[in-house]
Amino acid sequence: MKLLVIGSGGREHALVWKLAQSPHVTQMWCAPGNAGIAQERLARNGAEVKCVNLGAEELPKLLAFAQEKKADLTVVGPDNPLALGIVDLFQKHGLRIWGVNRKAAQFESSKVFSQKFMEKYGIPTAAAGTFSEAGPAKAFCATLGGKSVVKADGLALGKGVLICANQTEAEKAVDEIMVSKAFGAAGARVVIQEFLEGNEVSLHALCDGKTAKIFPTSQDHKRALDGDLGLNTGGMGTYSPTPFLTDAQLADVAKKVLEPFMRGCVAEGIDYRGLLYPGVMLTKNGPKILEFNARFGDPETQVYLTRLESDLLELLAASVAGSLAGVEVKWKPQASVCVVMASGGYPGNYAKGKVITGLADAAKMPGAKVFHAGTALKDGQIVTNGGRVLGVTALGNDLRAAQAAAYAAVQKIHFDGAHFRRDIAAKAF
Ligand code: AMP
Ligand code: GLY
Repeated sequence: MKLLVIGSGGREHALVWKLAQSPHVTQMWCAPGNAGIAQERLARNGAEVKCVNLGAEELPKLLAFAQEKKADLTVVGPDNPLALGIVDLFQKHGLRIWGVNRKAAQFESSKVFSQKFMEKYGIPTAAAGTFSEAGPAKAFCATLGGKSVVKADGLALGKGVLICANQTEAEKAVDEIMVSKAFGAAGARVVIQEFLEGNEVSLHALCDGKTAKIFPTSQDHKRALDGDLGLNTGGMGTYSPTPFLTDAQLADVAKKVLEPFMRGCVAEGIDYRGLLYPGVMLTKNGPKILEFNARFGDPETQVYLTRLESDLLELLAASVAGSLAGVEVKWKPQASVCVVMASGGYPGNYAKGKVITGLADAAKMPGAKVFHAGTALKDGQIVTNGGRVLGVTALGNDLRAAQAAAYAAVQKIHFDGAHFRRDIAAKAF
């Protein structure tokens, strides 16, 4: 089979790496890819994975490329092309593609849509209201007893969620989003939720329109600095499994969330084939969904795919075909930890083009796999080319072993200004 993978981050490197192990794959391209993706080879025939200089949002060009190469399957990593309707476009031209269609992508592209859906289908979530005017929005915040969370409806580069400690902050947040339009059209409507306390975990489920297969739990670390301090980032590290849910509790969450979710999708005429990634707060009153993402998490994918035993291509093909019910998803018993190495200054301004050394030594460390995110090849050297640069990932017999192996590999790698958290997975202990 010939595959095209779309995207250029650590998530896409993990997808490419795992798909390259499938004996079904004979040729693979990645648009646009990165320096690490370009080093991957196919297990079946040793062929290189070829990076193609096309952006993930250049839909007509991606379509033309997939047609020209006669790709048997296209796999979409990031949310933007999904929200733009890449799946609908490819399908209209008779091409097989994995990812959610435009209607299903609304779960991520509109928080108002998701909140209303959760309420309609009885999915456990925060007490919330949805508003298109500032006055009633502020009045609702006042009913929440001090703390509230104000969220812009649309995609806002991960910045549209404002956590407010009191009514004054809440009113300022509503004004910023709805009156000053800090996030443009994404802030025409807002969701306001009660502030929930607890451990936050990431869930992933692979869906085929009828069936949802839940993955083990994982946990992201969104803040830039140790101890969950500093600014919000795309994610500074992950681990799986988490100790916060037993297998029985996870199965219970799956029942309370995924069953009504899939039922609701069928009722609303949404053909949900792709990945569902709910963000969940484990509160003392049970698990509550904070938001839905309609794609694999980054860096959750890095820990999931290092733990996945099954052939990923077979799973994605079953997701597209609607035949997941008969498929068993097998996981390795080992734990996985991913430590993100970022550019100095990230998530603010940072320099690019810093030479990265030690990658070959890190790759030799037992259990380790270095996934590239913001990297490029320049004059024969691998250099930094983004905020999140590498996802240094390792498997171990338990979380402590995986954590030690990941940090041992991190110690081998150097670039000017590199920063990373030293407490990834520490919450588990
Ligand atoms: P979201 O994009 O909606 O997941 O929000 C981004 C982050 O804000 C989440 O990962 C949580 O850490 C935090 N957050 C969102 N909603 C709530 C809430 N209702 N209570 C507490 N924290 C929240
Ligand atoms: N891990 C955060 C995200 O993928 O949105």
